Amino acid sequence: MGQIAILTRGLWRLRGEIAALTGLSPVRWEPWRRPAFEAVAGWGHKPTADRARRLASQSGAPYIAFEDGPLRSVRPGPSQAPMSLVMDRTGIYYRAGSGSDLVSLVASPDWFTPDVEDRALGAVEALRRLKLSKYNSGPERSPRELGLEERSGWIGVLGVDPDFRGQAVGRRLAEAMLAHFRGKGAVTVRTLVDEKLAGIGQFFISLGFEPAPLQPFVKRL
Ligand SMILES: CC(C)(COP(=O)(O)OP(=O)(O)OC[C@H]1O[C@@H](n2cnc3c(N)ncnc32)[C@H](O)[C@@H]1OP(=O)(O)O)[C@@H](O)C(=O)NCCC(=O)NCCS
Repeated sequence: MGQIAILTRGLWRLRGEIAALTGLSPVRWEPWRRPAFEAVAGWGHKPTADRARRLASQSGAPYIAFEDGPLRSVRPGPSQAPMSLVMDRTGIYYRAGSGSDLVSLVASPDWFTPDVEDRALGAVEALRRLKLSKYNSGPERSPRELGLEERSGWIGVLGVDPDFRGQAVGRRLAEAMLAHFRGKGAVTVRTLVDEKLAGIGQFFISLGFEPAPLQPFVKRL
């Protein structure tokens, strides 16, 4: 059986999986211990794999990239065993420019038969149905809890007749609006003010608003 050189501790932990996928026997390669090898393993095409790729090109042996598969593990972290592993002798799937075994396989009608396509679509459907993602230990959160669907109120204009300013009319108007938004389930309220208008910022700050780091852009047509 030929040997495959592994240069990093992270990949060495996966030597059992690498042996099963490549059919080669993993050997730890160090600058002071240089066993013979037929291929070099590296983690994807990240800069951390530079050393492995250099060794492969200097020795003329093929570089084989490994990467997390779509289902990494129950919890994040290197101590967790991977549930899937991608192996690619050409490139890696996330680098569109360099090609990859995956792209070649999908483009090959001999391999990507209707039967394989059905299995792939079934797997996608199973991931959706079981709500699986790369890591799977977190509690289920609604899009709103994650801030992806945050309900938000918007104050377009709030103004008080100049003759009646300074009598808490503005505050009462604003508080009525905030109560309305709260009743609708909003968790934030936003407005845009002209910073050249004296006092308007102070008015909103006195109501508990905070300046937000948002910069409006305008183009006249
Ligand atoms: C801003 C405006 C709505 C305030 O109305 P108002 O009825 O005078 O405000 P209130 O009397 O209810 O004051 C509420 C708080 O804001 C503060 N405030 C209001 N105007 C202020 C000013 N010019 N400078 C500093 N603070 C001011 C008040 O001191 C008060 O604070 P406090 O309760 O802690 O004492 C009013 O000046 C206005 O209509 N401005 C022009 C319109 C405008 O630009 N609208 C904004 C578009 S979103």
